[in-house]
Amino acid sequence: MKRELALEFARITEAAALAAYKWIGKGDKEGADQAAVDAMRNMLNEIEIEGEIVIGEGEIDEAPMLYIGEKVGKYEEIENISQVDIAVDPVEGTRMVAQGQANAIAVLAAGNKGSFLKAPDMYMEKLIVGPRAKGAIDLNLPLMENINNIAEKMNKKVSELKGIILYKQRHYQVIEDLQRMGVSIYALPDGDVAGSLLTAIVDSGIDFLYGIGGAPEGVVSAAALKALGGDMNARLKLRREVKGISLENDKISNFEKKRCEEMGIDITKVLTIDDMVKDDEIVFSATGITKGDLLEGIKRNGNIARTQTLLIRGKTKTIRYINSIHNLEYKDDAVKELLI
Ligand code: FBP
Repeated sequence: MKRELALEFARITEAAALAAYKWIGKGDKEGADQAAVDAMRNMLNEIEIEGEIVIGEGEIDEAPMLYIGEKVGKYEEIENISQVDIAVDPVEGTRMVAQGQANAIAVLAAGNKGSFLKAPDMYMEKLIVGPRAKGAIDLNLPLMENINNIAEKMNKKVSELKGIILYKQRHYQVIEDLQRMGVSIYALPDGDVAGSLLTAIVDSGIDFLYGIGGAPEGVVSAAALKALGGDMNARLKLRREVKGISLENDKISNFEKKRCEEMGIDITKVLTIDDMVKDDEIVFSATGITKGDLLEGIKRNGNIARTQTLLIRGKTKTIRYINSIHNLEYKDDAVKELLI
């Protein structure tokens, strides 16, 4: 993939975050998501790539834009065009935007064709560590054994480990068990992509992330982790199973199982980071919407807005924090209306 494209992808997450800003605290998750989707899509169609959305807002019949399989970019009649697979999460943390809470980000990962696992929109059990614990995780083993292995690899006591787990009912027991072992748990209400990345940001103090969250978010996190030299194991989970609802004659579960079969994914198998992201020549971009542990949120005064973006190139492992000041009146016509 051409190096110059990295900055183009940063501009795309900036636009999505700026579009979502208007919806902070308005109590409307769908409105925030739609604005960010529209901005992302309009910007994607302005850049010279032959792109395909491989992780998106859903299937064509349930998502009018940025659906899985949608072609994006300006690619007609351009020679030697980059063929790019794109995974998007225009608002990671729709509830946080709707309720004005911390840690919402706009996210995009791009890679060469065939780079990403095309995971269906279901749940995923995730265990994630940064580069210092790479090779120490195996979801086939009990979690507590993994925790001991992570501590040993990092040359720390178990009581010195710090982990992130989403504060959801399904995790209450594991949070209690880990705390009883002496591990410090940061229980975030939502947003496991930002949490995953923190494991690989050296001075974040976070050693691991564990828990069940969205599968698309899992693949997006795997892209960033691969670029940063971290590690991840995962297992797909049926939505109903996670929610404790009977699977008998259940249409949603049957659909999820069928999609896994079509994609050649064994639902019982532990997926490694290499199963989820095949190539490390990826670009990952995230822009803060609300203030968070990973990124600053948007600050806006009239039509002047500040954004902070984390841009990672897997090939060179360069991590850039881009602080931008935007004059929204001068934005491309493709997105201006969504931002002002
Ligand atoms: P959305 O922005 O799509 O709402 O995702 C937020 C999130 O917390 C993700 O980070 C996480 O993977 C997923 O939701 C967990 O799903 P659920 O809210 O159903 O437990």
